[in-house]
Amino acid sequence: MNLKPIPADRLPELLRGMPKAELHMHIEGSLEPELIFALAQRNGVSIPYASVEDLRRAYAFTNLQSFLDIYYAGASVLLKEQDFYDMAWAYLQRAAAENVLRTEMFFDPQTHTARGVAMETVVNGLHRACVDAQAQLGVSAALILCFLRHLSEEEAFATLEQALPHRDKFIGIGLDSSEVGHPPEKFARVFARCRELGFHLVAHAGEEGPPAYVWTALDVLKVERVDHGVQSSKDAALMRRLAADRIPLTVCPLSNLKLCVFPDLAQHNLGALLDAGLVATVNSDDPAYFGGYLNENFVQTFAATGLTAQQAFQLADNSFVASFASAAQKQAWRERLQAHFAGF
Ligand code: ADE
Ligand code: ZN
Repeated sequence: MNLKPIPADRLPELLRGMPKAELHMHIEGSLEPELIFALAQRNGVSIPYASVEDLRRAYAFTNLQSFLDIYYAGASVLLKEQDFYDMAWAYLQRAAAENVLRTEMFFDPQTHTARGVAMETVVNGLHRACVDAQAQLGVSAALILCFLRHLSEEEAFATLEQALPHRDKFIGIGLDSSEVGHPPEKFARVFARCRELGFHLVAHAGEEGPPAYVWTALDVLKVERVDHGVQSSKDAALMRRLAADRIPLTVCPLSNLKLCVFPDLAQHNLGALLDAGLVATVNSDDPAYFGGYLNENFVQTFAATGLTAQQAFQLADNSFVASFASAAQKQAWRERLQAHFAGF
């Protein structure tokens, strides 16, 4: 699309107002400290923090694992179907306010089933919030079930079995948690089964792990999108492959900053990924922990890196193209995006 010039001081307004999709957001990572405390009280769960402020002070991460330890502790307050609904509904209201038209939300059932929470409690609460989001907020919301890669493939198979009675309530399968030492190929057989079952497939790869993990996510797991994938820029052949096959990367700038993947936002490689012709998108990952929801990711990244209005359009357009919605729905959203830029 040919854009008229937009002054840099109006970029935040453009970024916040443009229609967009979010494709990489862990719903458990949207649990704000206030909600953690409210749910802890409601459910009689004790947490090792004295106050909301005390908990927030613990959000000083040095790498992925230092975050995951606190993230799994925070999720321990989720027990009832209504808890899962309330968590998802809080995020979905926020998404609607940020002009997110489509969100594909990850959830980690093993974090909950390991504590004795039934699969149906998790899935039904999250799914009911998705249904209400469409009806009451006009937000199209879908779920992607993630296997925890620090656990075994056998446990992933057991999780899949438990989830299959609810297969109409999620659209895809992902792979998350501790990356280094747990390469995608550890889950080759369970992903092959999920592919036979007709699920969309994605995996975290190249967040902290090497480009080799992105290769095996593509060639062994046969994923349709790569979550993060920012380490791909270290491998020129991989960059050519991602561009040629138009494999989307769901990039999460504030997450990368908070987990020390990049020393500061100005050095983030989002612009380089776009310049190389990759279908890069912007996402919030775990917004309650990383200092911002989707619009904050856009605004802070553009301020730090000098990305342009043309690149804002490209990123939002990529987000719709890379989504798992129907072709007709994607086209309608892309036209809405074009109209928004034309009228800005
Ligand atoms: N689970 C939640 N957030 C994650 C991330 N950024 N990487 C891997 N697993 C996660
Ligand atoms: Zn993630």
